[in-house]
Amino acid sequence: MGWPEEWNMKRVVVLTGAGISAESGIQTFRDQNGLWASHAIEDVATPEGFARNPALVQAFYNARRAQLQDPEIQPNAAHLALAEFEAQLLALGGDFLLITQNVDNLHQRAGTQNLLPMHGELQRAKCVHSGQSIPWFTDITEQDSCLCCQPPQPLRPDIVWFGEMPYAMQECYDALMDADVFISIGTSGQVYPAAGFMQIAQEQGALTVELNLEATSHQFDQGVYGPATDVVPAYLDEFLKELKY
Ligand code: NAD
Ligand code: APR
Repeated sequence: MGWPEEWNMKRVVVLTGAGISAESGIQTFRDQNGLWASHAIEDVATPEGFARNPALVQAFYNARRAQLQDPEIQPNAAHLALAEFEAQLLALGGDFLLITQNVDNLHQRAGTQNLLPMHGELQRAKCVHSGQSIPWFTDITEQDSCLCCQPPQPLRPDIVWFGEMPYAMQECYDALMDADVFISIGTSGQVYPAAGFMQIAQEQGALTVELNLEATSHQFDQGVYGPATDVVPAYLDEFLKELKY
């Protein structure tokens, strides 16, 4: 990697997007045949769309949640490499945080510990009134209601929609301000605030790296391009070798 000797490269923040799960069989959003080619964002990924037609929105997320029960859908080599990298980095006295825009639970299943699912999780539901979140693995129907309110209120997917505030933003910003390295994996960098993370890290002096199928419009310090299951394990192995020796 040819890092300057004096660089301490042990505080690593990673951001992942739909691209890291593509090879697990989960559709991305903006690639060819992506989700947004067949569904209108304003209908299925905004609070206004949910207010207008909750059944349509529930059906959209019920189908995506049901897909996660498919035994074919497993964490891939990129998810697993990140979990292994975290364990080894922590053993070397480093810090690690993985911020994901994905809602597919694959990082959790791969064993990543320090994880912020900033856009929520498909396998959780939340009360439309209190916002209280609960684990949920089957369809959400209009018969399902919360246990936290009187009278009970309807449940919605615990997903952050366009126009809503993501989860754990202060933790994300704190980690970005403290990072030595910021690695972006499998995201088109089109949706803020996640799309602004690279610039925050770069401006405070972190090394910024993009691992993606193709280059995005953001000016990273380094880029390695190809399928995540090839590029991510190779890059992380090289990174650890550099740290250890
Ligand atoms: P944005 O304006 O950054 O959106 C970027 C792209 O998303 C746009 O170029 C467009 O392609 C699409 N988009 C956004 N709103 C749209 C709409 N109403 N109709 C059609 N296309 C639309 O995104 P944003 O609205 O500023 O997002 C703000 C908040 O929403 C952020 O907090 C973000 O984290 C959250 N969010 C969550 C999800 C999710 O599915 N979990 C998706 C996107 C955004
Ligand atoms: N390996 C690596 N990268 C890949 C692969 C792959 N096998 N396949 C696709 N990619 C890359 C694409 O090149 C693209 O840059 O993954 C990215 C996918 O971009 P999007 O489909 O826009 O997904 P994402 O960036 O996660 O979207 C951000 O927008 O609509 C919202 O909720 C949605 O959280 C999501 C947010």
